[in-house]
Amino acid sequence: MRHYLDHAATTPLRPESRDEWLRVASNVGNPSSIHESGQAARRELEDARERLAATLDCDPIEVVLTSGGTEAVNLALKGLWWARDPGSDSIVLPDGEHHATLDAVEWLRTREQADVRPVALDEVGRIREAAFVDALESAACATALAANNEVGTVNDVAGLAGRAASSGVPLHIDAIAAFGHVPVSFRGWRGDARAHDGLVAMSVSAHKIGGPAGTGALVVSRHARLTPLLHGGGQQRGLRAGTQDAAGAAAFAVAAELAVAEREAEAERLRGLRERMVAALRERVDGIEMLGDPHARIPGNVHLWIPGALGETLLFLLDQAQVSVSTGSACQAGVPEPSHVVMALGRDDAQARQVLRVSLGVTSTDDDVDAFVAALPAAVERARAASGPRPGVRS
Ligand SMILES: Cc1ncc(COP(=O)(O)O)c(C=O)c1O
Repeated sequence: MRHYLDHAATTPLRPESRDEWLRVASNVGNPSSIHESGQAARRELEDARERLAATLDCDPIEVVLTSGGTEAVNLALKGLWWARDPGSDSIVLPDGEHHATLDAVEWLRTREQADVRPVALDEVGRIREAAFVDALESAACATALAANNEVGTVNDVAGLAGRAASSGVPLHIDAIAAFGHVPVSFRGWRGDARAHDGLVAMSVSAHKIGGPAGTGALVVSRHARLTPLLHGGGQQRGLRAGTQDAAGAAAFAVAAELAVAEREAEAERLRGLRERMVAALRERVDGIEMLGDPHARIPGNVHLWIPGALGETLLFLLDQAQVSVSTGSACQAGVPEPSHVVMALGRDDAQARQVLRVSLGVTSTDDDVDAFVAALPAAVERARAASGPRPGVRS
């Protein structure tokens, strides 16, 4: 039996979400058509938008549906940049962001001469607030993760949003790894910020919470100034042209409602599994260390530094033992990269290659934990033998 412990990469589709997708997709109708078929699709779509807005604590009109998290992040960052005030040419970019953000900002740097202001993380992966505040000075826009998808650390979003509001800078929050796992409230985080200041946009993605891949949303405050990426039929306040996907929206809404309704009980359950896993690993794997914030973290995320064992070797050996985990970092042309997130925690290149991300979710059981705990020690032994001397071990 396969043990899937990579819920941060993607989650199994919830049966309720799949059924809802099939139900809505079985009816023909473009939500923009005037006739009854179109209007029926429109009702499904708007009902889904309302339900989604309730789970995100925002107004339905603020929910702009997209083809996923990556599009939402690109719309936010490029959209805010293109609509910036003349003379503000800087983007505030914390270290350790997801590649959707890093690569969109890099594109703006090389193509549009954006001045990128990096912000350091602390040793557990939290954004350093004082450095964030310094970087905000007359910036065009800022971005930040609500929770880090690799090491699981949760940021103080209300605090960052308040700082952006006081500095008069529009802020995008990538809530893709946080939504469904920690409380998310667009209204609460935005507070009483004026017009275009503070939190104005927030990205979420359906496949991280049991919904279908290829569906996401950008929550866009009604006061935000945002230039669209796509031009066409003027749908969604002109911010995201294109025929709207009523079935995807409905399936996303069902998954979001379930994730939010079950969140607290599920967090408690996953914390229990996590603690049991960590205690067993400490006994069995010499030198193992947990990275990220031990308290303010995504409940199902376990991020491990295993000195002397290459993450990609462990991943391969665990895969053979029927356990799916991740190193969390990307491959460039098939070559595994050291994790830029782990390096942002102050670890070196060698250490940033000796990590594993285990992410638990709704389908995770004691059995999954036991299988991982049973398979890891032998995998570590083989991976350490394969890498020779242990370069990442600190004295
Ligand atoms: C924090 C974060 N941002 C953005 C994305 C991209 O989202 P999507 O896979 O829906 O394009 C992901 C997915 O891995 C993520 O974890």
